[in-house]
Amino acid sequence: MLLNLKNILVTGGAGFIGSNFIRLFLEKHRDVDLINLDKLTYAGNLESLRDVESDPHYHFYRGDITDAAFVRRLFNEWHFDAVINFAAESHVDRSILGPQVFIDTNVRGTMTLLEAAREFGLERFLQVSTDEVYGSLGPAGKFTETTHISPNSPYSASKASADLLVRGWEKTFNLPTMITRCSNNYGPYQFPEKFIPLMVINALQNKELPIYGDGLNVRDWIYVEDHCEAIDDVLYKGKIGEVYNIGGGNEVQNIHMAKLILNKLGKTESLLKYVKDRPGHDRRYAMDSTKIEVELGWKPRHSFEQGINETIKWYVENEKWWRRIISGEYQNYYKLQYEER
Ligand code: NAD
Ligand code: TYD
Repeated sequence: MLLNLKNILVTGGAGFIGSNFIRLFLEKHRDVDLINLDKLTYAGNLESLRDVESDPHYHFYRGDITDAAFVRRLFNEWHFDAVINFAAESHVDRSILGPQVFIDTNVRGTMTLLEAAREFGLERFLQVSTDEVYGSLGPAGKFTETTHISPNSPYSASKASADLLVRGWEKTFNLPTMITRCSNNYGPYQFPEKFIPLMVINALQNKELPIYGDGLNVRDWIYVEDHCEAIDDVLYKGKIGEVYNIGGGNEVQNIHMAKLILNKLGKTESLLKYVKDRPGHDRRYAMDSTKIEVELGWKPRHSFEQGINETIKWYVENEKWWRRIISGEYQNYYKLQYEER
């Protein structure tokens, strides 16, 4: 029997994946109230949700998942049936510049939500995690749900810590938790600090495309909508206490991706610039998604060709969205990250 959820809390819904998820969820489930709790950090952007904000089933609260009193009040008001925790500091390079906020939000914030869920009770607590908790692969093999956790960056260490807390709360307090671990997402509304949007908007501006190290690191790219559908499947059909890997089945070397983007935009490869490598840079990620495919019947619906064309088209057509971002605080970050690299 399908779970009967009446209201769900989505944290971090003003970010890249959260905003895509909200759009998809509201379209698919017309009888569920969705409450979006977001701190609106540099990465949170309500402009990514303009088309859903007047939906009567959508409710936005600005707040911090580390603020236990606030979180408690919200749970008391809504008595959520489910929580999907997207809220996080999400960028590896920023976690190297300053790890503290990663521990605060990703670790302490997750615990605050777990504690509220324990106090008020709910049907499902879904933690949105990442393949990066598994560490790095050599040239062969894939991560499965039983691969040992071995994170290599402050970001991935904080996400792995959160996963362990979620597990602990399930085993000890019988909290009905589930964890999804997904590979690298790309698509509309991704903050331009991440690789694909950075390559696209730099190319559009005829700016250099910074390639870390030898450019041969591999990521397993998934179109964001496919990830969102997987989360919806796990929420409604997943088994309590389980971890589900979600991958795009689409491994690409960074240099290949950068060249492909230049090519699609009709730009010259002389824009490529090899720069100093990221410390602790994971060489390769690849996900084995057999479990979610076999048990829940999920499969990515977008081919890479389709997904990347849609994504590039979106950034070309939504210049106003990214221009506003890169004209603000982003400039300071960009200087700090790339000026002397
Ligand atoms: P994002 O950085 O675009 O968005 C994060 C959102 O969380 C923002 O809206 C931000 O304002 C909000 N937030 C941050 N700190 C908060 C706090 N203390 N309280 C409330 N809200 C807060 O990130 P994303 O790329 O959309 O990633 C979403 C989730 O998916 C993260 O948990 C991330 O670890 C995970 N994930 C991301 C990827 C990827 O490729 N982007 C892959 C796998 C998993
Ligand atoms: P990123 O989008 O930061 O995701 P993650 O590191 O979490 O996988 O980076 C994807 C890959 O692209 C990663 O191997 C680092 C590389 N990269 C560059 O070469 N140049 C850049 O400017 C950025 C942001 C990333």
